[in-house]
Amino acid sequence: MHHFEYRDGRLYAEDVPVADLAAEYGTPLYVYSASTIRRHFKAFDSAFRGLDHLTCFSVKANSNLSVLRLMAELGGGVDIVSGGELYRALKAGVPSEKIVYSGVGKKDHEIREALEADILMFNVESMQELERINEIAQDMGRVARISFRINPDVDPKTHPYISTGMKKNKFGLDIDHSRQAYKLAQQLPGIEPVGMDCHIGSQLTSIDPFLETLEKLLAFYRELDEQGIKIRYLDLGGGLGITYDQEEPPHPEEFGNALTNALQGLPLTLILEPGRVIAGNTGILVTEVQYLKSTPSKNFVIVDAAMNDLVRPALYQSFHAIGEVEQHSRPAKSYDVVGPICETSDFLARDRELPEPRQGELLAVYSAGAYGFTMASNYNSRPRPAELIVDGTEVQLARRRETYDDLVALEP
Ligand code: LLP
Repeated sequence: MHHFEYRDGRLYAEDVPVADLAAEYGTPLYVYSASTIRRHFKAFDSAFRGLDHLTCFSVKANSNLSVLRLMAELGGGVDIVSGGELYRALKAGVPSEKIVYSGVGKKDHEIREALEADILMFNVESMQELERINEIAQDMGRVARISFRINPDVDPKTHPYISTGMKKNKFGLDIDHSRQAYKLAQQLPGIEPVGMDCHIGSQLTSIDPFLETLEKLLAFYRELDEQGIKIRYLDLGGGLGITYDQEEPPHPEEFGNALTNALQGLPLTLILEPGRVIAGNTGILVTEVQYLKSTPSKNFVIVDAAMNDLVRPALYQSFHAIGEVEQHSRPAKSYDVVGPICETSDFLARDRELPEPRQGELLAVYSAGAYGFTMASNYNSRPRPAELIVDGTEVQLARRRETYDDLVALEP
């Protein structure tokens, strides 16, 4: 459920007509709904009310400071994967004891910054990373709380580019290596092993791979427990999918119930790192039709948003629903919705039935709240779009549109 709805044929973001926003702020334009963000966070978080838990929003999905501030206000923590994300999270007021740090390639300075901030824990992905964190922590007179990211070798049945928990993936350590890793970690003076972590992939539309993973992790947890290695945090990562088109992912409540049943009574705090399920359907990308053209085989709608603004269709062949901002009741035809970038992969939709759009009209690209702006680039020297947050009738400019001066600001 989200708050982008038609009223008398006009698309509204909460209580504001989207066409008014485009008129004032220009296009392409990202528009987020604050009420939807709150609702999605609460729906997810409350699904785990039966367990000691911490919901750590995955910053990579949407890292706008205003969005992160909302998460902090709601009591959420964050999952970060870089020094830049740590900087954003702290700036947005996320308490450091609610920050977990994942990622296979943490650099020295990033580890230092995270230790300085005293984050909750590092999710460690290799033995060399463990050694590096140990050295830096000792050097700083600190002890780093860590978990190991376990690669459980489970097929999440999602797009191969966003599958992360299979043997062939670069992420985490397999269970055999993890055994040695925990033993070593216990002996290192700069390290306190406190958790166990995994993240098997993104846009999962079934609970089964999560449960299969959990079963493997719990067996390993018991094994460690018998050896006197006491784990306090179990981090199951993110990955719960959303509806872009016809997908029917489990409701967070169903996910929560399944995990609650599996974990009830264990002396563990469950950590979750949802990104897409919270932010995905809280945002749209508004774009203006520039030109229409037809070839013998295709009808093209050329819009002013491109793969640099929303790369998911080009990168993963992802489906994003597209709709009119003002409804005109015209007959539908099949179109490719494409941007101005000089690549054939620059499309937002292919062979899509749309009521015939006209030059100058606006279209809304749905499900753009996660991995939309955060993956945007300046390719073709296109300034990145503005981001707005609508809350009832209030509109906040959460990021101004980039200018040509911004494009060259770092270049002598
Ligand atoms: N935790 C870790 C360690 C992750 O790597 C990710 C996502 C998440 C949590 C959040 O996963 P989510 O709940 O959003 O599924 N750019 C791709 C998605 C890449 C996901 C990468 N990791 C896309 O646009 O589909």
